[in-house]
Formats: sequence, C-alpha cells, structure tokens
Amino acid sequence: MKARSLHEPPRPSGSRDPGPFRMLDYDLELQHHNLALRRACAIRASDQVLDIGCGTGQTTREAAQLATAGSVLGIDRSNEMIERAKQLSDEAGLHNVEYVCADAERYEPPRERFDVAISRFGTMFFADPVAAFSNLRSALRADGRLVMMVWQQRDRNEWATSIERALMPDGAGTTGSIAVPPAFSFGDPDAARRILDATGFATATFDEVHAPVFYGRDVEAAFDFVSGFSTVNEKLARLDANERARAVERLRDLLAEHRRADGVWFDSRAWIVSTRRK
Ligand SMILES: C[S@@+](CC[C@H](N)C(=O)[O-])C[C@H]1O[C@@H](n2cnc3c(N)ncnc32)[C@H](O)[C@@H]1O
Repeated sequence: MKARSLHEPPRPSGSRDPGPFRMLDYDLELQHHNLALRRACAIRASDQVLDIGCGTGQTTREAAQLATAGSVLGIDRSNEMIERAKQLSDEAGLHNVEYVCADAERYEPPRERFDVAISRFGTMFFADPVAAFSNLRSALRADGRLVMMVWQQRDRNEWATSIERALMPDGAGTTGSIAVPPAFSFGDPDAARRILDATGFATATFDEVHAPVFYGRDVEAAFDFVSGFSTVNEKLARLDANERARAVERLRDLLAEHRRADGVWFDSRAWIVSTRRK
C-alpha cells in the first residue's frame, strides 16, 4: 500500500511495528463505525459478498461469519494487507473467504456473482472512480446491493481538521487552503451520486454515522498511532527543526485535550452509502 494519508489506515513501518498490525489499531479506531456498517450491510446466510479495499479484512471476516452458506471475496491493491487478511482469516478458521490482490479500477471480479458489495473506507481513493464503480456494478447480480462507508467532508471531521491545524507552519492561520485529500472524495453526496448514477447504480441514500474515532488508550499511544499517518510525517517533514518541535508539541497538547477516561477520541462523521444496481 502507498504511504498512508489521513485516512488510509496505519501501515507497517519496519522497526516500530511488529508487523502490519497497527491495522488492529485501525479496527479499534473504527469500533463504533464498524457496528453501524455491519448493521447496514445486513449480510444474509446465503449471500455472496464482495469487500472492496478490504485491508486486513475485519469486515471480510465478519461477512464470512454471517454468510455461512455463501462466501466472501476481499480485494485490495496492497499485497501486505491481503497477506495479513489471509492469515487472520485462516486463524479464524474461515473456509468461505478468498482474497485477491488487485486494483479495483482495473480488476473485473466475476460478473454478476455477488449479492452485495461492501466497503469500509475502501472506495474513496480511486483515481478513476468511474472505472472502479463500473467494475463493481458488473460484479453485482441484478438488484445487487452496494453498502459502503465513506468520510463526510473534511470540515465535518474534527480528527482531520484539528490534527492538520496543529501541524501547520507557525502563523499559517486557518486550514482553509489545504487541498481536499482523497479520503474525503465521497463526502459530498451530490458528487458521489453523480458517480454512482454514471456507473449504473440507483439513487443512493446517505445515512450519517456521527461517532468518535479512537486513537489510543493514552496520549503516548495516540501519538504513536497518529505518527503512523503519512500525512502527519509529510507535514512535519516540510517544517524546519524549530517549527517541527513546536508542531509536535501542539499535536501532543491536542491529543491530551482529547483524552478521556477511556482513551483519546476525536469526533468524526461518516456516511453509510446504500444503493442497488439498476
Ligand atoms: C482506509 S483503508 C480501509 C481498509 C479496510 N476496508 C478496513 O476498513 O480496514 C483503504 C484500503 O483501500 C485500499 N485501496 C485503495 N485504493 C484501492 C484500489 N484502487 N483498489 C483496491 N484497493 C484499494 C487500500 O490499499 C487500503 O487497504
């Protein structure tokens, strides 16, 4: 996987990590979101499920546990994510899961095979969303469902705006000039509906999930987690040594402000986008 952006998941990074298992931190980060998505996906025992941008596969495994008479195919362009997903599925004793390492913009899954395509924050990073969603649509059976979780717009996500603000160069003022990162590319329902409409999906519903993200049990753990975001590193790398030290201090202060008895949490807003193949 490419370097992580806010908010691609934490990625393995050599000596600091025992393996790609900061992804387990990512599962913890999204604990509230995951419950909401699981309810919305409403996987049935007989379902054939496609999980797009499955990462290390928490949603893939959960779908497989529900689709007891069906099966699940997880796809992700990151080989290291797929390898870990396979390992975790094996450890869970699942026999109805397969994984493919592929780019959803180019990979054409088996046509008209799937009852439902799901994704937890795996569909916002497409450079060519029309190609990717056309492939997904072809993979769905007539009337097959698409249920995906995406971030709402950046300014509705405290985790993004406040961390970026902490890392701005001294005196840079507001965050208004920051280009919209791909993580928020599905945040505007009108723009998202245009893509879905162009690729053969019915008018989508957008249900809000307003829930906090978890960054760690204390400030140190949260600092370690957030330090794994590539955008944090990129922003810090652009600062001179003095500015960088102040930015790190601001970041630590911010994390401390967000410390609650049960850990460090930031507000967030996501959409669950639900539609069907036309
Ligand atoms: C934010 S992560 C979410 C991972 C997983 N769905 C989860 O919730 O743990 C986004 C994932 O999408 C994958 N991804 C991004 N663009 C992709 C593409 N064009 N084709 C396949 N996977 C893609 C990334 O490799 C990454 O694993």
